[in-house]
This record gives sequence, structure tokens and C-alpha cells, in this order.
Amino acid sequence: MSNIKKPINEIISNLSPTPDQSSRDSQEKLRCDRCRVDLPEDRKFNSYCDKCGDERRRQIEARSRISLEREIPPKFIRDDIPLERRFKEYVPRCQRGLYLHGKTGTGKTQTAALIALESIKAGRIKGENWAFLNYPKFIMRLQASFKDKTGESADDLLSRYADIPYLIIDDLGAEKPTEFVRQSTYFLINEREMYERFTIITSNFSLKYLDENIDPRIASRIAGMADIVEMGGGDKRLLKSTQKRD
Ligand SMILES: Nc1ncnc2c1ncn2[C@@H]1O[C@H](COP(=O)(O)OP(=O)(O)OP(=O)(O)O)[C@@H](O)[C@H]1O
Ligand SMILES: [Mg+2]
Ligand SMILES: [Zn+2]
Repeated sequence: MSNIKKPINEIISNLSPTPDQSSRDSQEKLRCDRCRVDLPEDRKFNSYCDKCGDERRRQIEARSRISLEREIPPKFIRDDIPLERRFKEYVPRCQRGLYLHGKTGTGKTQTAALIALESIKAGRIKGENWAFLNYPKFIMRLQASFKDKTGESADDLLSRYADIPYLIIDDLGAEKPTEFVRQSTYFLINEREMYERFTIITSNFSLKYLDENIDPRIASRIAGMADIVEMGGGDKRLLKSTQKRD
């Protein structure tokens, strides 16, 4: 858990308690806005006592962590793995997206997560203007939306992620390429390409494979919007489990 502490602390370091700053009434004793304990004489405005201030900071921190974890799976939120130098150019605002492909365990998802974390630290993305989508899970949500008419419709879901300014699509191609999957993926990628919305995609498939076996229209649009980079270097999961056994 300590891995996620640092980026979150950096993100929230600018957030301080925001007490009601009504000015001091000379007659009235100044009290903590939350627990009403008397405040020290040197306070000019109503605010929180030290204890409530700390408590509020902790709450803000927990909320930031939840929103970060809602997007990026917690195991990828870490500051002990450096982002490779060749990927640093994707942190500042950059014209082209990134299509990261390669064998399983080579660090594609981790790299995409590190780019997003650095982009948060750099202030490039925040709040609701970015998302991390595990694509097979997203497809399941789309399919479920046809059965559950009470939630967001498939059209709404697709439009939401087509419009979001910064999107990570993790594990494209891992789902069964049915006609529905092909059409949905085409819509999402085509919209993002047309409106030049920054997109990072990870996949086990090369663009050539996508072109020949899944959908040439999707492959062509990805080539138009993103730099294609192959991750090599073997399976890091296997490497880790070998090290553990030693
Ligand atoms: N540079 C690195 N140094 C140390 N560990 C790393 C590095 N990059 C990734 N890892 C770790 O290796 C494991 C596999 O990485 P990751 O899940 O990103 O692979 P992947 O290419 O996305 O695999 P898949 O194709 O199966 O989705 C993860 O636990 C990740 O934290
Ligand atoms: Mg992955
Ligand atoms: Zn208090």
C-alpha cells in the first residue's frame, strides 16, 4: 500500500482544508468549525482545530486515493518502477497517442499506468477528464447494458469514452471479436481518431495482426492516431516468481 502514498500525497499537497472563513466577531470566542472546541488566540478566522484539520486532510487523501484506484488498478499505482525514458514524451501534452503491444507480462499496462500517474503529477490530467479502461471489462459492461435498461445505455457508455479527452484502453483484443465488439471498437476508435483525442492502447496483438485478423478499419485508425511501440524483454511476472523462489 505504501507504493501509492507518494503520488497521492503529491496530488493532494495543494489541497488544504477549506473551512468557512467568516471573520472573527470580537465578542465571540473562536471555535473549531467542526467540533466547536476553542481555538488558539492567534487564529484570525474561523477554522478547524489541529485535530479536525488533520482529520479533514486524511479524508481528502482517502477520497483522492479512491478516485485514483477507481481508474487505475491499485497494483499498478507505484513509484518504485521508473517510467522508461522513451515514454517520457507522452507525459506533456503530445500530439500522438501510443499503441503498446507485445507479449504477456512485458510491462504494457504498467507503462500506461506510469504515464498516467506522471501526467497527473504534471497537472496534465485531473478529475473527470481522463479514464483507464480495462477493455474486456468495458465490453462486458456494454453487453450488460442491453439487459439492464435502468443504467447507462451502450450508446451513452460508448459516447462517454469516445469524448473523454484522455483515455487508456488496456488489453484491446483480449475479448472475443464478435460483430458487436468490432462495431463498438470501431465507433470508439474512429471517434477518438477524428477528434484527435489522446489515447494510449495496450494489446497483445501487433497492428498487423489486428489488420489481418480483427478489423482493418480499426488498425488503420490506430496507425493514424498513435505511435506504435513493441514492448520486449520477456515476461516480468515469470521473472518475479523465479526471483521469489531463489
Ligand atoms: N520496469 C519494470 N520493472 C519491474 N517490474 C515491472 C516493470 N514493468 C512491469 N513490471 C511488473 O511486471 C508485471 C507485469 O506487467 P504488466 O501487467 O504491465 O504486463 P503486460 O504487458 O500488461 O501483460 P499482459 O499482456 O498480460 O496484460 C506487473 O506486476 C508489473 O508491475
Ligand atoms: Mg496488461
Ligand atoms: Zn475541531
